[in-house]
Amino acid sequence: MPDTLGFIGSGMIGLAVARLAVAAGLDVVLSNSRGPETLAGLVAELGPRARAATPAKAARTSDLVVAAIPLHAFDRLPARELAGKTVLDTANYYPERDGGIAALDAGELTSTALVQRHLADAHVVKAFNTITPHQIVSLARPSGAPDRSALPVAGDDPKATAEAAELLDVLGFDAVRVGNLGESWRTEPDTPAYVRPYLGDVPPVDVEEFLLWTTRTPGVVVPAPQVAALVAAAVRRVASAARLPSADA
Ligand SMILES: NC(=O)c1ccc[n+]([C@@H]2O[C@H](COP(=O)([O-])OP(=O)(O)OC[C@H]3O[C@@H](n4cnc5c(N)ncnc54)[C@H](OP(=O)(O)O)[C@@H]3O)[C@@H](O)[C@H]2O)c1
Repeated sequence: MPDTLGFIGSGMIGLAVARLAVAAGLDVVLSNSRGPETLAGLVAELGPRARAATPAKAARTSDLVVAAIPLHAFDRLPARELAGKTVLDTANYYPERDGGIAALDAGELTSTALVQRHLADAHVVKAFNTITPHQIVSLARPSGAPDRSALPVAGDDPKATAEAAELLDVLGFDAVRVGNLGESWRTEPDTPAYVRPYLGDVPPVDVEEFLLWTTRTPGVVVPAPQVAALVAAAVRRVASAARLPSADA
């Protein structure tokens, strides 16, 4: 289990995972694109287990790294500093936000395989991409709790995938293994396991109200057998068809 979790990207998803990590007794190193000084408020809020650094330093000084950035920035992840590390990739591909990425639109690669191609010497695991930030915190439960939810993980390296599953367990979730990164389309946007199951019935609201609503609803428990069934039911869709939101920001 890592003692120190690094974050490249400390926005909604990164911060939600960092909150669980601090609650679980791990140290966290936050980073973003604008510099450590812009993270002083969040560091203070998280307390003595948190510090801020540049992305390169966060990568270098952490045992395991969560990359929680928009996919369009994937090629700025510090490949050299991440070599040999397990990296959890939370990103989803939304062409409206990320611009068209030909290899994804052509279905040649999954989005996390693209990240792995950039981080050739790291072990990338897709995780935390199917749940909204508020529900990461509100649905976390201790190991063995009857109302525990599960999240999918996918990776090419079995040891790194096991490490990711172990981290999820410590943070409050069971893990359902999807397969390797080639199979990780099964949890990309618009698939059955993606976001909606953890939200339950969504009221008929517009995009802005939807995002606000997700911060007010506690979410719905999605146990491991249900996640496994949803993952198995996925049908591959065209990556370029994904539309923002009403499910992901
Ligand atoms: N929000 C959701 O509901 C949700 C759910 C599941 C998965 N996801 C996925 O998770 C990823 C993060 O989402 P989010 O909602 O947390 O986004 P967000 O709130 O916009 O945060 C993005 C973070 O990435 C940082 N960043 C951007 N470019 C960077 C770079 N080149 N180097 C280092 N840091 C960089 C930003 O820092 P600056 O602010 O300094 O630029 C910010 O801290 C996205 O790919 C998203 O699709 C989101």
